[in-house]
Amino acid sequence: MRDVLLEVRDRLRSARRVTVVTGAGVSAASGVPTFRGAGGLWRNFRPEQLATPEAFGRNPRLVWEWYDWRRSLIAVCAPNPAHEVIARWSESPGFTLVTQNVDVLHERAGTRNVVRYHGSIWTLKCATACGAPDWDDRRVPLEPLPPLCPACGTFARPGVVWFGETIPESAARAAAAATACDLFLSIGTSSVVYPAAALVADARSYGAFTVEINPETTGAAVDLAIAAPAELVLPRLLNAS
Ligand SMILES: NC(=O)c1ccc[n+]([C@@H]2O[C@H](COP(=O)([O-])OP(=O)(O)OC[C@H]3O[C@@H](n4cnc5c(N)ncnc54)[C@H](O)[C@@H]3O)[C@@H](O)[C@H]2O)c1
Ligand SMILES: [Zn+2]
Repeated sequence: MRDVLLEVRDRLRSARRVTVVTGAGVSAASGVPTFRGAGGLWRNFRPEQLATPEAFGRNPRLVWEWYDWRRSLIAVCAPNPAHEVIARWSESPGFTLVTQNVDVLHERAGTRNVVRYHGSIWTLKCATACGAPDWDDRRVPLEPLPPLCPACGTFARPGVVWFGETIPESAARAAAAATACDLFLSIGTSSVVYPAAALVADARSYGAFTVEINPETTGAAVDLAIAAPAELVLPRLLNAS
């Protein structure tokens, strides 16, 4: 393990452009359940059954109850050592973080140059896209539930990207640009949710050295896989000598 850590540390020091992609695993040690791990189920629903425009269309109240529960849970979570190390890396020029997480813990840890690929759980937007600008609401629990658009009075929805929806254009563009890098780290993601999962392959085809940090092997083709939790590996990368 030590040799592997030293290699990644050296690459971190010498790379001109470093791109990190994170998924729910980075926030697991903060107490935020991953979608595919223990605690991913809510009232026996799988996230894929709730985080879709169709589920919201069928039953907005049920989908909002789930989001209200997740918001309450995330509200009491704090960044962990993995978030803190990524925040330190982000002080270097040429660093980009693309996160699939909607919990905003990276920003709370002080990370710079964050591309929010899947939005934020604290953002609300009009479900009918009436033209009202998106707004932030950090109250938990939310009242009324479902919340309403202040402009047109119909339901509001979470400002996150649901399964089957497209990535906001500016985030997709920034993430694509960041795949042209020397070192690409994929941390705490199952690499099954597209298009985020394609970023590592794109980076590799541009010639980046690619590293995965995840206690479970995901099947993503990378140059180096470190099979251990992010909150343990990242502090060791910072201090490796
Ligand atoms: N924290 C959040 O904001 C949050 C939480 C759940 C799901 N999501 C959303 O779910 C979608 C699912 O994709 P995903 O790949 O992010 O999550 P996922 O739930 O599919 O996978 C999580 C991955 O993290 C790994 N993991 C678990 N503990 C870890 C640890 N301590 N260190 C490193 N890795 C660890 C697991 O082995 C798994 O491969 C994304 O779109 C994301 O927006 C976000
Ligand atoms: Zn509206």
